[in-house]
Amino acid sequence: MPKLNENYLNLKESYLFSEIAHRVNSYASAHPDKKIIRLGIGDVTLPIGSKVISQLHEGVDALANAETFKGYGPEQGYAFLREAIVDYYMRNNIVIEADEVFVSDGAKSDTGNITDLFDKDNVILIPDPVYPVYVDTNIMNGRNITYIDANAENNFLPMPDHSVHADIIYICSPNNPTGAAYNKEQLKEWVDYALENNAIILYDSAYECFITDETLPRSIFAIEDSKKCAIEFCSLSKTAGFTGTRCGYTIVPKDLSFTASTGAKLSLNAMWNRRQTTKFNGVSYIVQKGAAAAFSVEGMAQCKENIKYYQENARIIAEGLARKNILYFGGINSPYIWFECPNNMDSWDFFDYLLNNAQVVGTPGAGFGKNGQKFFRLTSFGNRENTIEAIKRIEKLF
Ligand code: MLT
Repeated sequence: MPKLNENYLNLKESYLFSEIAHRVNSYASAHPDKKIIRLGIGDVTLPIGSKVISQLHEGVDALANAETFKGYGPEQGYAFLREAIVDYYMRNNIVIEADEVFVSDGAKSDTGNITDLFDKDNVILIPDPVYPVYVDTNIMNGRNITYIDANAENNFLPMPDHSVHADIIYICSPNNPTGAAYNKEQLKEWVDYALENNAIILYDSAYECFITDETLPRSIFAIEDSKKCAIEFCSLSKTAGFTGTRCGYTIVPKDLSFTASTGAKLSLNAMWNRRQTTKFNGVSYIVQKGAAAAFSVEGMAQCKENIKYYQENARIIAEGLARKNILYFGGINSPYIWFECPNNMDSWDFFDYLLNNAQVVGTPGAGFGKNGQKFFRLTSFGNRENTIEAIKRIEKLF
């Protein structure tokens, strides 16, 4: 009999968004006449911009001709896309090199897969509430997690406790689920803490495109010395509407190295390259053509148009909650609005209440950790009509 990875026994029975889909599908089958508005999972609804679409078509056409046909591509991503990403960072005054960029099918996979590079015995520091992938993938590997509280008192932006040691620190800013975003000084404190502890920051910047406050950093690499202690994950899912198309990237600085127990220097860039070349065969040429177009000046301008639309949805949701005096966070530099459940309800109870009484689907805060027990997340990625209708229905209930 095979010995199974019994760490799976320590996971919740199903992944958060699978559980939500299951509950919503059961409700929908029992109530086929009801119009359900889905503002749960952060899935985009607007079509991809024309610049990207034309490049996706070009990618398809290239495969139709022997002269331009592509088989396996480089596991790390085509040079044209890695360079387009470097250029995008450069336009934000951040210098990275193309061989520090690894293209992938998304930040979800990479934030999970990065755990391959680390031993089981590390002190893993994860904020609570948090995107459940960071927690679940560490549990799958049998790691213990030290949680750091994010709550209304610290505006959901916890700062390091210098008396506590950590080896690996997860940060997501702008944050999923709370929408809170660190400023430069706060991130600098995290970088200093990581350097003090000889630790590494795993920085998820999947929502950087939603930053409207120009003073806020869009990347951990906007912070001095961060290349000595951080890996950044980003995604085109929300930036360019690629939730279904799938493309993301991870930046592993070449400066990032640690001393092994043998005394040898281990480069994280070389290790990630080794991991990817072994376990991953790259993203399709077609998708990479489209992704490169998204990073062009014209392509990014089109992405920003879609983002503006979602930001207006966020404003509509936030204003509705404010009219009802419901305490909320996020929605300004983020597509997520994180609010206190009315009447002191628990978040799963509120989820069921909202589904049954308003046919609006959100995400219960408890799914992101214990500090989300009394909170609820709505996404601004719905269409305008549904967003307005959802907030009207919610306002009617309270
Ligand atoms: C979310 O709703 O939290 C995200 O869409 C999930 C993801 O990006 O995987």
